[in-house]
Amino acid sequence: MAMAMAVVFVASSATGVRGQLTMGFYDQSCPGVERLIGSFVRQHVDRVPTVAAALLRLHFHDCFVRGCDASVLLNSTAAGVAEKDAPPNLTLRGFDFVERVKTLVEEACPGVVSCADVLALAARDAVTAIGGPSWRVPTGRRDGTVSNMQEALDELPKPSMSFKQLKDLFATKGLGVRDLVWLSGAHTIGIAHCSSFADRLYGFRSAGAGNNTTDPTLDAAYATNLRSRKCRSPDGGNAEDAAVEMDPGSHLTFDLGYYRSLLKHRCLLQSDAALLTDPVAKADVEGIAGGPDEVFFQLFARSMATLSTVQVKTGADGEIRRNCAVVNSPSN
Ligand code: HEM
Repeated sequence: MAMAMAVVFVASSATGVRGQLTMGFYDQSCPGVERLIGSFVRQHVDRVPTVAAALLRLHFHDCFVRGCDASVLLNSTAAGVAEKDAPPNLTLRGFDFVERVKTLVEEACPGVVSCADVLALAARDAVTAIGGPSWRVPTGRRDGTVSNMQEALDELPKPSMSFKQLKDLFATKGLGVRDLVWLSGAHTIGIAHCSSFADRLYGFRSAGAGNNTTDPTLDAAYATNLRSRKCRSPDGGNAEDAAVEMDPGSHLTFDLGYYRSLLKHRCLLQSDAALLTDPVAKADVEGIAGGPDEVFFQLFARSMATLSTVQVKTGADGEIRRNCAVVNSPSN
């Protein structure tokens, strides 16, 4: 069957190098691999829906540091500490799951399909499997061979960032303000640990509000509830750092709950609340929150398609890692 080979050109914002991805890149070299990944992910997500949030965040954190090259999956070595061990990545989940998918793929086609493509496809398929949108994932990404903790610290957004800081950071990846608003909708699923937002509940400093208060942009009743039931102390809560649903009541459902809670000032992260501090972003949030779901789905899918092509390595760049956690040895 003649296969349409739509070629997607991607400008790399940092290097100016143009990468080339293709729809169905593995059609000849590993036929059926996308179906294999899709059905494995669907089966698993049906049983363990929380895996969708894990994969989506993993993919995002991968793409923001050295592009979507699976550098987030590499282990630290004697030569250096990897992205994975940077504080913002210590709450990432799903590494084992990606490795399971990769093992399956290696059994079918050894040394052909990159970890970066496995992650990009699995994240898309997992979001679709929990009832979220789908988006086109052209393939042909190559895996990077470098993973550096400091780069993760420098390149990943922090929950304490202001709108301007977020906007500037996203711009370095070729993503605009609207992408920032649309992609933040990912927080309609998943969890955050108390330590990620405890500074909004205890000892919050803001101009005019002084010290040792609750973030005034957080709904007071919601903040009281978080302090008394979930996160009981400034260091993140109870003995263990409790996990709180990002979108209370529907953290397993891809829906408008995040944007609607945001407008009620019931979002966990300061970076979420920051979206309301910019008139353009706020108007966008209000527009999306008004529904229907399909509009959010389309916008989110559009931005995910862009995110998944940020600074990709293609052609002779990088390698096809056999094990996603370690670079191939020179003899491979
Ligand atoms: C705009 C800047 C962003 C910041 C500052 C941010 C920060 C965070 C933080 C602090 C958490 C909680 C981690 C924890 O305590 O366990 C989180 C969770 C999450 N983030 Fe973001 N994020 C941002 C954007 C995004 C984007 C663009 C995506 C995907 C497209 C995304 C997907 C997720 C998901 C799915 C979770 C839940 C993970 C889980 O359940 O394990 N985030 N984010």
